[in-house]
Amino acid sequence: MGNVSIIDATDDHAPGITAIFNHAVRHTFSIWSETETTTEQRRSWMAGRRHAGFPVLVAVDPADPHRALGYGSFGVFRDFPGYVKTVEHSVYVAVEAQRRGIGRAIVAELVARARALGMETMVGAVDSANAGSIALHQQAGFELQGTLKGVGRKFGKRLDLAFLVKAL
Ligand SMILES: CC(C)(COP(=O)(O)OP(=O)(O)OC[C@H]1O[C@@H](n2cnc3c(N)ncnc32)[C@H](O)[C@@H]1OP(=O)(O)O)[C@@H](O)C(=O)NCCC(=O)NCCS
Repeated sequence: MGNVSIIDATDDHAPGITAIFNHAVRHTFSIWSETETTTEQRRSWMAGRRHAGFPVLVAVDPADPHRALGYGSFGVFRDFPGYVKTVEHSVYVAVEAQRRGIGRAIVAELVARARALGMETMVGAVDSANAGSIALHQQAGFELQGTLKGVGRKFGKRLDLAFLVKAL
């Protein structure tokens, strides 16, 4: 992975997180939205996660610690009391920083944080055609437990949602 650390995001990282998010909106099926976000909206999303006690992590080069190379977070899976020990996470790496082990490192730290919070189950909901993300998660011990067919839509295509699950 080279010289990369996984740290808690600060407001300084909001522009970088926004750029990574918007690139995924424009060019990938990893976020099922065609609407870009603003830095202000991402800042308020980050504050909401923090307020709920959930982490927002960024990968940074310690020589340039304000530039987010990737980010990951988790939050409520489904908003009913019975799911209180389950979290749903997401992970994104800037195109120019992919395939350097950063996604793997972010997921590993998210798993550690979820365990530290006493969570029991972690769920990744991934476009079933996203072979890279599915491979990354399976390597990290997530199991493909099911696929919901045709539940999503983007760029005029119907999309299938794969659930990758790890017992913590
Ligand atoms: C998926 C994503 C997070 C992976 O992050 P990354 O830092 O590039 O991945 P890593 O370098 O940590 O890869 C770890 C392993 O995952 C698998 N992997 C990652 N990207 C892959 C790809 N494009 N194709 C096939 N396997 C891939 C490989 O097994 C890899 O190990 P290896 O490099 O030793 O072969 C990143 O490509 C990304 O942000 N993509 C766009 C957004 C996205 O799809 N997010 C996930 C939404 S659930």
